[in-house]
Amino acid sequence: MSKSSKGEFVMDLQKIREQARKDMDEGPVTQSYGADREAVLKLLNGALATELICTLRYKRHYFMAKGINSEAVAQEFLEHATQEQEHADQLAARIVQLGGEPDFAPDSLTARSHSEYKEGRDLTDMIRENLVAERIAIDTYREIIRYLGDGDVTTRRIFEEILAVEEEHADDMVDLLAGRS
Ligand SMILES: [Fe+2]
Ligand SMILES: [Fe+2]
Repeated sequence: MSKSSKGEFVMDLQKIREQARKDMDEGPVTQSYGADREAVLKLLNGALATELICTLRYKRHYFMAKGINSEAVAQEFLEHATQEQEHADQLAARIVQLGGEPDFAPDSLTARSHSEYKEGRDLTDMIRENLVAERIAIDTYREIIRYLGDGDVTTRRIFEEILAVEEEHADDMVDLLAGRS
C-alpha cells in the first residue's frame, strides 16, 4: 500500500492476495503487522496477570465488605470484579489470536501483575487499595497504548477500551471515598 505521485491511495491488491496465502497458520499476523509480536505478547500477558489479580482482589473485597453502607460498596466491588474478569478474557483471546499462549499460572501471578493483591483492613482501606490498583492499571495501559501506536491497532484498541473502564473504576472509588455513592 502506498501513495501515488499525486498522493492518492494506491493498493497493490495482487501482492496483498499473494501474501495472504503465505504463512496461513499465522492467523491475523500478516507481513504488514507492524509491531514486535513477542513484545506485544509479553505486554498482553502482563496485563492479563494484572486483570486476574484485580478480579481476585475485588472478589475478596466483595465478600469481606462490612459496616455502614457496605451493601452498596460490595455491589460496586462485585461489578468491578466481573468487569476485570471480562478484561482478562479479552486479553487472553487476543494473545491466542496473535499465536501466543495466555499465562494463567497461579504461582507467578502476583509477581507478573502490575497491581498488587491487597486485602485491606476495613472498607475504606479496601476502597483506597482499589483506587491505587486502578491508578497503576491506568498508567501502565496508557504506556502500552503509546508503545503500540499504529504497529498493532487492534491490540491498541482493546487496551483503549479497557483503559476507559479502568478510569470509570477509579472514578467510582473516588466517589465511594467521598461518600457520594
Ligand atoms: Fe480491568
Ligand atoms: Fe478496574
